Amino acid sequence: MSPDSKIYEGKAKILYTTDDSEILLTHFKDDATAFNAQKRGTIAGKGEINCAISSHLFQLLEAKGIATHFIDCPTPNQMRVRRVQIFPLEVVVRNIAAGSLCQQTGLALGTAIAPALVEFYYKNDALGDPLLTRDRLLFMQLATPYQLEELQAAARQINEILKVFFNECGITLVDFKLEFGLDRDRKLILADEISPDTCRLWDRSETDPDKRVMDKDRFRRDLGSVETAYQQVLQRVLAQNV
Ligand code: TMP
Repeated sequence: MSPDSKIYEGKAKILYTTDDSEILLTHFKDDATAFNAQKRGTIAGKGEINCAISSHLFQLLEAKGIATHFIDCPTPNQMRVRRVQIFPLEVVVRNIAAGSLCQQTGLALGTAIAPALVEFYYKNDALGDPLLTRDRLLFMQLATPYQLEELQAAARQINEILKVFFNECGITLVDFKLEFGLDRDRKLILADEISPDTCRLWDRSETDPDKRVMDKDRFRRDLGSVETAYQQVLQRVLAQNV
């Protein structure tokens, strides 16, 4: 199947239309950015790895009753997805304090969070994806009050499934980012990707705070062995049956 026209190019993916107006083709790139694209690089093989991990996790979630945009992968770095209207929101779920939460609150890295925090960020590169309050989100009409409840509930349900799954892979799911859309019937659909680019994943067999990192923090913080870590996540994910 040949891609028709590019409709969107993001930092890590390109979206194409297909001959079916309800289906889009996502191309996963090896390009990596961090800190709102102030840091740029390439992670060899990342496109194929993230495509494979995402498709595995989407199928796992579908099997557990979560509607996702995933259809199939025509090539190793391409995913066919259902067309949805994306909420301009990044839904972040945190089980353990890390990253911007520690920077903004002073909480110690590794502080356990239960129940998980569910946070909403405004997906807007020009503004640096700011953290939203519930009132701001509703005032800006980025979602209705009902959709906000739905997004929170879906994020928590996905977290429960993924936490158990990654635990079985010998990996701690520290935090992750989700994006959602609505289909033509206004039904909530999980979209985008779930990969080491969008999750913090710590190797449960390592206690060293740098050695345990298996995600994009290796790239953000120049920890080295980025490709190897992504490969490791893929191998462990594929070893678990959906
Ligand atoms: P943060 O601690 O930087 O706010 O990131 C929280 C989680 O969200 C982490 O798993 C990385 C992911 N994330 C993205 O997927 N895209 C982004 O642009 C950012 C800032 C974070």
